Parts: sequence; structure tokens; C-alpha cells
Amino acid sequence: MCGIVGYVGERKAQDVLLKGLSRLEYRGYDSAGIAVLEARKINLIKRQGKLRILANVLKAGPAKGTVGIGHTRWATHGVPNDVNAHPHADCTGKIAIVHNGIIENYLDLKASLIKEGHKFRSKTDTEIIAHLIEKYYKGNLEQAVLKTVKLLKGSYAIAAIHANEPDKVVGARCDSPLIVGLGKGENFLASDVPAVLDYTKDVLYPDNHEIITITKTGAIVKNYTGRVVSKRPSRIKWDIKQAEKAGYEHFMLKEIYEQGDIVGGILDERLHDGKVLFEELNINQGAFKHFKKIVIVACGTAYHAGLTGKYMLEEYTHIPCWVDTSSEFRYRDPIVDKETLVIIISQSGETADSLAALREAKRKGARTLGICNVVGSSIAREADGVIYTHAGPEIAVASTKAYTAQLAILYLLTLYLARLKKTLPPSRISYLIKEFRKAPSLMEELLNEHKSEYNNIAAYAGEFKKYYHEKHNKSYFLYLGRNINYPNALEGALKLKEISYISAEGYPAGEMKHGPIALIDENPWVVCIVTQSKTYDKMLSNIQEIKARGGIVIAITTEGDKEILHHNVNYLIEVPKIDELFSPLLVVIPLQLLAYYVAKEFGYDIDQPRNLAKSVTVE
Ligand code: M6R
Repeated sequence: MCGIVGYVGERKAQDVLLKGLSRLEYRGYDSAGIAVLEARKINLIKRQGKLRILANVLKAGPAKGTVGIGHTRWATHGVPNDVNAHPHADCTGKIAIVHNGIIENYLDLKASLIKEGHKFRSKTDTEIIAHLIEKYYKGNLEQAVLKTVKLLKGSYAIAAIHANEPDKVVGARCDSPLIVGLGKGENFLASDVPAVLDYTKDVLYPDNHEIITITKTGAIVKNYTGRVVSKRPSRIKWDIKQAEKAGYEHFMLKEIYEQGDIVGGILDERLHDGKVLFEELNINQGAFKHFKKIVIVACGTAYHAGLTGKYMLEEYTHIPCWVDTSSEFRYRDPIVDKETLVIIISQSGETADSLAALREAKRKGARTLGICNVVGSSIAREADGVIYTHAGPEIAVASTKAYTAQLAILYLLTLYLARLKKTLPPSRISYLIKEFRKAPSLMEELLNEHKSEYNNIAAYAGEFKKYYHEKHNKSYFLYLGRNINYPNALEGALKLKEISYISAEGYPAGEMKHGPIALIDENPWVVCIVTQSKTYDKMLSNIQEIKARGGIVIAITTEGDKEILHHNVNYLIEVPKIDELFSPLLVVIPLQLLAYYVAKEFGYDIDQPRNLAKSVTVE
């Protein structure tokens, strides 16, 4: 995970690096550092803790040069402390490097380097890179980096500087993201686009096993044989303002509130004259007709979107569909072949397990389709086809708007396939499209017009905190749902645990009697998704069973539901009425808000929860 930045130009490198790192802090935030070239010396400053700690140190003693590299860390090898923070230097202090990824053969390389007399300071895998560059440096940094990277096993995006070559930064990548920002009289390297968007919208996307040298006047990309690779710059379409809080207290809240707009934008972009268009798909309709199986592979929230996809795809396209977490799929010899469509869902497009799963699926001959948010990301580029969610940058570690955008794409894909395979009559497709079109404004309405209702969620969070303390911290959450809202139960639980550190479990409500009901006493708060659906009555019975055993119930119901009022639930949250198929888009919003307000009540760092990072680019 980690974020890296490199800069060459006329500005004070320190300012550019700090700004860039602040845009990448979502990738890791346990320590940060920069190395700046100053009068043929390297000024290296790094600190454990959030970026603001480093920024304060630099305020007191600024670095003056105009060329440098920076890093924000999510520790893999070596605890988060000042020494293990990046950048790392070689023995002479003339070389500094930053790295995102894991060097798997670092222990062997380190042992050889120690035998050769190199002195190590940190416990990281990364430091060997600085020493290898030192070993191979014969007056040309690019050559030394090239020799070094050929020895590395694992994943890396690196940026390196050398005091003897004060006009350049050299980068390289393998299985970790790295982009090049092209400015006027200045150029940049970074793990992700937001780090350069304050300065330029023109970027290059280096591929694996490419080495990049940036100077003030240009960027040269070569492959590992040393041949220059010509790349066409891409123009970023979104604005840096989208990566700012815009008056919201947290990115997470801002991103929750953007969801209606995003789903609306997806519908406007993809629906024309009642037909679904996927321009960038790159898999022809003929191929789509012949898939005998769909396999969806993803991690975390994207996996939950995939699980929801299974319900809609099987019911409406009659294609058998299974869903797997990427880390399981990649290691279990999955049965996929050329008649299988493997869909990889990933917000970042860089999740290491999902990328490996994609490669495994391709190796077995399956056709692959990425559903990604980050344009130009590895999964988007390596899959046979891609559908972008275009949800804008998602900064909060807890994914919200990417989820609803992924759901929206899966709905459209379902309708696209149902039309193609004629598994639904045109009149049914038209009805579903009409219902789907209601979703964005209902999402908006739910967030804005229902303000008082949603203020109640904040109040419930406050009551939970009181109760939690009364019960000596033994209270926790269970989330129950059925059918197409069962994945939402998993998602609600994931949101809560990742930002509030309170135990939370999601379950299909029908499974209660097979074990979890043993947990029910007065401790758990049970969130029951009991919107209008074919399993509504079954959910009511589950609520009765929980109430009979002393559990506290928060019911998420459909507006106007009178029946639920007879069931003695403790708290009620209503969502507007829509066809059951699209209800997950509405139901997830109160779940996201509940997690948000509970974390806020407990005073946690909502956008940067402990131990997590936005983009999991290591296994
Ligand atoms: O970038 P991806 O969609 O591949 O990321 C997958 C998961 O790491 C991600 O959804 C994670 O679970 C989030 N923190 C959930 O909020």
C-alpha cells in the first residue's frame, strides 16, 4: 500500500511532495518522509505518525531543493517508527529511495549485501533497494536502478534520487501502481493521479517492468531491455476539487452524500433510448451470448457488490453465477474456461489479490471484464474489457460511493445481458429501467429531504454508545438481511467494524437458527433489513425471535410500512419505496450512515481507520 511521489521542477520540492502525499495519505498513514536534493547532498527527513507531524518538522526546518521524493507508509516489514519510515538511504547517504510494495526475496539479497559490507539501519524489505543501487552505481542512476530491479522479486513502485545527478528522479514499477504527471518545466511520479492533479491533468501510465526517468524537461519511459517505449499521454477528466472535502467534516460523509448524483451520472452515461451502452467494453455481443457461466471475483466491499450481482444476474439472465473472494479464487484452481466470463470488481483496480485472480482467470482461458473506478489502473488495463464506474476519487478508506456505483453497473450489465439473451421480455426491461431511473432521486431524497430521519441515526449511535458502556463494552452489532439485501447485511457489518472497531457480523437471516441465535441476549444490537420483498414475512418472524430473546432491533423498512409498527422494534429507519431489485441502493445508505455516526460518537479517525489502507496492493 503506501503512497510515493517524485518531483523535478522549479517549485520548492518540499511543498509539492507534502501536497502530493496529503492526496495519497489514504494509501497508508503510519509514517511519512521526504528526501530533497540540496547542493549535491540529500536532505532526508522522516517521522513516524501522520503526515502533519512531518509537515510540522518541515515548517521548523524546511528543505530547500526543487527535486525530491516522498512517501506515506502502511507498514509491512518493520514496525512504524522513524527508522523504518521511507525514504531509505544507502551507506554513503548519496542515494535515497521510496517504495510501495513488498520485496519477497529481500532476506537473501540483504544477506549478500551485508557480506559485501553494506550497513543496514532499518528492518524493512525496502532498504536493500538503496544498497543495490549503491552497489551498481557507476555514474548513471538509471542504469543502476535497471540492474537493481532485475534482481527484485515481488511487487514494487519505486522512485530514486542520487546526489550526483541532481536533475532527475528515476522510477520503476512491477505490480504496484505508478503514474507520471507531465507538467510545463516540471514532471512528477506518483502512486495515483490525485497527487499530481494540483499541477497537471496530463499523465502517462507506465506498464509493469518499465523504468521512467523524469527531468524538468521530460519523462522517458524504457522497458527493462533499455528500449524507449513511446506512450501517449491521457488527459484526466475530473477535477482536484472532487478529491477535497468540500465543507464536509469527513470524506466518508461527503462520499455518502455524492451517491445519488453518481448513480444518476452512470444512468445518463450508459442508458440511451432504453438501451444499455458500454462503449469501452471490448467484448463483442456474440461472445456475451455464449458465456455459460459468470464468475465474479473481488475483495471487501467490491465482493459484496459482486454477491448482489449474483442475485440479479442469475434471476434475470439465467446464467449460473458464483462469487469468490480474490484471495481464495487465486489459490484454489478454479474451474473457469473460455466459456466463462470472469468479472473482477475493484474500486482501485490495483488490489493485489484481485489482480492475481484476473491473471489466473486469463491463464485458464476465461474472458475477463474489469469493473473499476480508477481509470488506467492495472486491472482496467489487463482485463479483456472494462466498464468504468466513474464515481470520482474515493478517498475515505471505508468504501461507500464505489459500492453503489458498482451496483449500478451490475444492474446495467444484467439488463444488457437480459436483452441480448432475450431472458426478459422488452416490456419487463422497460419497466425495470423506469424503476432504476427513480433510484438517483430517491437516494438524494433519502439523504436530503429525510434529514430529520437521518439525524435520528446519529441519535441512535449516541444511544448505542451509552448502552455499550452500560453493558461494560460487551455490546456489538449483528446485521441480518435476505435475498438481494443479504449482501447489504455483510456490507453494513464491514462498514461498522472497519471504522468503529466494534464487533459486527452480517448474516443471511435464515441462517439465524443454525447458530447465531445462540448469541442473542440483551447485548447485541441487531440491524434487520426488512424492506418490502418476497421474504418480508420471514424477516418479521426473525425479528420476533430476536425480540423474544431480549435483543435490541433496528429495523430498516420501506416508507409507509404499517405492519412493522406491531413488532415492537426499538428503532425504525425508513427508506423510500422502489422495486425490490433496486432496494440495495437505498438500504445501504442508512447502513453507511449508522457506521459513520457510531465511529463519530466514539471519536475515531473516520477517514483513516487504524491498520487499514485504501488500496491493498500487497498480499
Ligand atoms: O480497490 P478495491 O475495490 O479492490 O478494494 C477492495 C477492498 O480492499 C475494499 O473494498 C475494502 O474492503 C474497503 N476498506 C471497504 O470499505
